[in-house]
Amino acid sequence: MKKMICKNYDALSYLAANIIAEQIKNKPDTVLGLATGSTPMGTYKELVRRNKKGAVDFSGVTTFNLDEYYKISGDNPQSYHYFMYRNLFDHININRNNIHIPDGNTASVEQECERYDRLIRDAGGIDLQVLGIGSNGHIGFNEPASELITKTHLTALTENTIQDNARFFNHADEVPVHAITMGLGTILKAKRIILLISGKNKAEIFKKAFEGKITTNLPASLLQLHPDTTVIVDEEAAFKLVS
Ligand code: PGA
Repeated sequence: MKKMICKNYDALSYLAANIIAEQIKNKPDTVLGLATGSTPMGTYKELVRRNKKGAVDFSGVTTFNLDEYYKISGDNPQSYHYFMYRNLFDHININRNNIHIPDGNTASVEQECERYDRLIRDAGGIDLQVLGIGSNGHIGFNEPASELITKTHLTALTENTIQDNARFFNHADEVPVHAITMGLGTILKAKRIILLISGKNKAEIFKKAFEGKITTNLPASLLQLHPDTTVIVDEEAAFKLVS
């Protein structure tokens, strides 16, 4: 993993948007892997700004989101479908047919997971994957465990994640307890990965993921094995690093 330390969240967002915009400029039919959560919001805002002034063109881009709650419908304001349209897709010139998010309302989870992996394969795999990290080290909804699953799958959220995500709901009881997520195998097959980390509350987990042992109990630590991962981190999240 390489790291780029930015002064603050705005600088991090700007830098991440630069990398994504550059990728699209070099390969207009880029396949982007996208993440939800608070961390990439500034990056998406910056990409919207650039798209509006004609500096980045999404017309040939295909996207695959990491995950979606289960069971939830796409028009539910708490869904990741809703989040992605409100924060990015509604404001850029992307072809709606090229947007992919797991269907959290599917009647057949197994078929949906297979369909999702097939779509990623048929698109030629992910060129650039954007990731955040959970305070427990999860990526996507691949939660710490003794074994991790390779492909897209249904997973149970840990209590830690439910509590973290409760801030987006009226009450922790309303947070869905399951999600459909890309697996670690799919994520690690992305040609290039940028992992965005911001804020003091991520400093400890970032240090462990970046400098500690590789373990499925800290899924983000597996990124140490990926040949082209860059961590874009702000000073608040980086202050515990030794190297
Ligand atoms: P956050 O979530 O960006 O809202 O901190 C990250 C994650 O859970 O992957």
